[in-house]
Amino acid sequence: MGKVEAPSWLSRQRVRESVRTSNYAGWGMYDSAIESYQKSFQGVLEGIDIISWTQSKNTLTVIDLMSSTEAIASIFESASWDKHRLGLAVSLEDARSDLQKERDKGLNVEKLDGDIVLPSTWKKIKKKLKGHRADLIMERAVGGIDTLPKDFGFYEFIISKTWEMLNENGMLLLQAPGFGRWGGFKISRWAKSLRRNNINVVFDHDNYAIKLVKTPDSPGKLPF
Ligand SMILES: C[S@@+](CC[C@H](N)C(=O)[O-])C[C@H]1O[C@@H](n2cnc3c(N)ncnc32)[C@H](O)[C@@H]1O
Repeated sequence: MGKVEAPSWLSRQRVRESVRTSNYAGWGMYDSAIESYQKSFQGVLEGIDIISWTQSKNTLTVIDLMSSTEAIASIFESASWDKHRLGLAVSLEDARSDLQKERDKGLNVEKLDGDIVLPSTWKKIKKKLKGHRADLIMERAVGGIDTLPKDFGFYEFIISKTWEMLNENGMLLLQAPGFGRWGGFKISRWAKSLRRNNINVVFDHDNYAIKLVKTPDSPGKLPF
């Protein structure tokens, strides 16, 4: 089935015009569409176009951590409507305009208000997934990173949690400044261990980007 056009009052342009424009709540970059993520993760994507990649999936579940629903909505707007699709954006606030909320309902994109530092938020994410695993999990928090603990153990917690929620052939795209510089952690040794465990891993040290892909032979738990 081909792409079904959204009603004109929910057209991408109308919805984006309804978005607050600059420096929302002091976060600076906010409500970015997927094209902006594509640029940030270019160094690890190895030629993958995120939208085309999602369109190759039979069903699609996408999680965007520390973000509004905008990036997921921009993916779903470009895919056909006959697939099972679920999107979940997790952040501290829900600052969507009424048009964004209406659009998200039609696309099956949900907004979960929660602090990713808290285990209770991860329980809520799992509940929302209703047994589905995610094909794509993204985190491009930019300034939001400043709120997070500067602690390797915290990143280990987040990366392990997201890995467990990832589907076979699923992709994890994370922005992680400081990762690998704390607690004597040797990132190159970790990368070798991941590759030995059939996990596709790419780092872009200049842009703090990490990509992990779960292959059919990858372990359920991520080695650290
Ligand atoms: C710069 S903005 C959003 C960036 C967005 N991904 C984009 O590219 O447009 C940072 C986001 O991080 C979220 N955030 C900050 N600390 C958080 C936390 N501890 N748990 C969940 N979300 C958090 C904020 O609520 C905010 O939505």
